[in-house]
Amino acid sequence: MQTESLVVSSPEALPSALSDLIPLPQPGRILLTSPLHFDVQYVINPHMAGHIGNVDRERAQYQWTQLHDAYVQLGLEVAVVPGVEGLPDMVFCANQTLPFVTRRGEQGIIVSRMYAPQRQPEVEHYVRYFTALGYRIQPLPPTLDKHFEGMGDALWHPGCALVWGGYGFRTDRGVYDYLADWFGVPIIPLYLHDPDFYHLDTCLAPLDEHTVLIYPGAFDEAGLALIHRVFPTVLEAPEDEARSLFACNAHCPDGTHVLIQQGCTHTNALLTQAGFVPVPLETSEFLKAGGSVFCMKLAHW
Ligand code: ARG
Repeated sequence: MQTESLVVSSPEALPSALSDLIPLPQPGRILLTSPLHFDVQYVINPHMAGHIGNVDRERAQYQWTQLHDAYVQLGLEVAVVPGVEGLPDMVFCANQTLPFVTRRGEQGIIVSRMYAPQRQPEVEHYVRYFTALGYRIQPLPPTLDKHFEGMGDALWHPGCALVWGGYGFRTDRGVYDYLADWFGVPIIPLYLHDPDFYHLDTCLAPLDEHTVLIYPGAFDEAGLALIHRVFPTVLEAPEDEARSLFACNAHCPDGTHVLIQQGCTHTNALLTQAGFVPVPLETSEFLKAGGSVFCMKLAHW
């Protein structure tokens, strides 16, 4: 391992081969949060505008159950943390923590520090859940005055210990210096500049070790160069599917199936050509809050 910063922001500084990195097993557990209290009650991203009080709870429950059952059918271990009254965004359970597994197999979570004050009280419910499971709970140091929204912005590269770190809206770049050091793994920071793509998981879905699905317009040139340098196959979702159907908020839990919002016709064709199997799901009620498949689950070890 290098001794200088593990935050890699130029292609020349990238690890020469992914095979040099520590292998990372596929997370086999899926955590969901029930949508009983899901709603749009405030606007903290542009997708929520115009949707306050506009959620069909029954339809949301139905859509969430379809997502739940899709994971069960794929053979993943699914657990549910109940939603809490007064926390309408808690159903997006990818944001409150960043799960990890150490080389020795110890499971843990980094505790997020949410940017939106409305969402800060969500975090303790996941800390409680993972504490009860016996996981290592790692908060950010109090002296680090930065925000971090967990797996909304920090995504593990499939199969190897490398993190893609989005920043610009919800997460501060400086968090990645701390995390790269703490994990002892490289982190590739990616600057986000379009408010519709406020979390990295809205515009980048790592599908397997070699393939990523992105919306290129959400990144700057430096970010795109890094993505292309690491992933031999970069699938590009068209703007309409990425912006209004959250095509890149898809999730590939097993290297083959891609759970994705219904109607992403062009993206699905790209996925199929690349050997993946799209599993279309309707998440229209959750799109009103600015989220879809990827952020409605937390994959962990
Ligand atoms: N309304 C939520 C927010 O703005 C949606 C979060 C969706 N999560 C995600 N990772 N994209 O925070």
